[in-house]
Amino acid sequence: MGSGLILAIESSCDETAAAVVERGARTLSSVVASQIATHARYGGVVPEIASREHLRAIVPVVRAALAEAGVGLHDMDAIAVTSGPGLAGALLVGITYAKALAFAQGLPLIAVNHLEGHIHAVLLQEREARAEAGADQPALALVVSGGHTHLYLCRPNAGSWHYSLMGRTLDDAAGEAYDKVAKLLGLGYPGGPWIDALARFGDAHAVPFAFSQIKTKLHLAGKAPRTKAAKTAPIANLDPRFLFSFSGIKTAVLRYVELHNLRPEAEARAVRLFGGMGKKPVKIPATKEEALGLCSQQVLDLIASFQHAVVGDLLKKTLAAAESLGARRLLVTGGVAANRELRARFGAEAGRRGLSVAFPTLALSTDNAAMIAAAAWPRFQAGEFADAGLSADPSFALGR
Ligand code: KG4
Ligand code: ZN
Repeated sequence: MGSGLILAIESSCDETAAAVVERGARTLSSVVASQIATHARYGGVVPEIASREHLRAIVPVVRAALAEAGVGLHDMDAIAVTSGPGLAGALLVGITYAKALAFAQGLPLIAVNHLEGHIHAVLLQEREARAEAGADQPALALVVSGGHTHLYLCRPNAGSWHYSLMGRTLDDAAGEAYDKVAKLLGLGYPGGPWIDALARFGDAHAVPFAFSQIKTKLHLAGKAPRTKAAKTAPIANLDPRFLFSFSGIKTAVLRYVELHNLRPEAEARAVRLFGGMGKKPVKIPATKEEALGLCSQQVLDLIASFQHAVVGDLLKKTLAAAESLGARRLLVTGGVAANRELRARFGAEAGRRGLSVAFPTLALSTDNAAMIAAAAWPRFQAGEFADAGLSADPSFALGR
């Protein structure tokens, strides 16, 4: 074995990323080319455009990752790539390129689950901070992003990790609700950062949104709506207290908008933000004046109430799971883990209960390849390699 260098590639959604990481513990480089600006004008990710943009970006991004790390392909010990879950066409771009590199260099290829990557974003950071003791302890992980809201019990097991699925969303992911509500209110894409910023200037108790107890039987009988996110794992054996559902609150926001005739305001805002080509983009407001220049107080209150309810639901169910499983350590990761209110409330509540909670840095919260290289390291050590037939697995489930 060489110096333990892994080159990882991530292309599951709208970021083309490559990174070089040593022994899953030291990041030499992490390059992310975001397509957000390209998709923003459509108000969401357009799969065909994503594949085309990955094709354009993959070679320069991998080159930049190697150059920044000051290494060449011949220095690598393995190539890792996200093989799912994600958009099939987007995943294929990364997989095809990773396979070609591995074949040309005679290196082993490692397939990584994107959700396992998000979990390892936190573990990588803890190892980098030399908090070795923390990094290899069992933990309850909440992976909360644009495509996922999953709870996993993670246990180290002879150098590798074992994941048990404890809960997940039945319909929309939390990030998806952020994005849809932002779109409905005429805000930018992705919606998370807009809602995060604006929520600070509203009254979180103005609109009493409520989450009701999930009834698993309805879903098992096929009577409840399902989305693509819901298909990734069976729910029959999950405790209903740890199941999430975010499509209801999105509808409740829509109803509030209709009832209070807020649609004209939202439409005018969308035109202001995105109307007219070549216009200078409007920045996310940072002060109350800027926020009020963009939204009425009523809309700011609606945004604050929406976020308060979503974060409250994530917090309540994660803590219930931690208590019931006896987990002392929480990892919160994925794009929504960048949220300020979420970090503050998880930090405060975990502190009250004597639990530890860890978040990735903001750069490691959203999609990147360093987390994929970190997740690949235990697989490399265990000799778990993919064969030449590796293909995209758009609904790749993690754990059972
Ligand atoms: O992990 P990620 O980059 O991609 C997926 O795997 O989905 O997560 C993207 C999601 C988007 O839905 C975005 O709106 C949300 O994360 N997000 C946030 C924040 N920053 C990004 N949600 C709430 N607050 C934020 N600050
Ligand atoms: Zn992700």
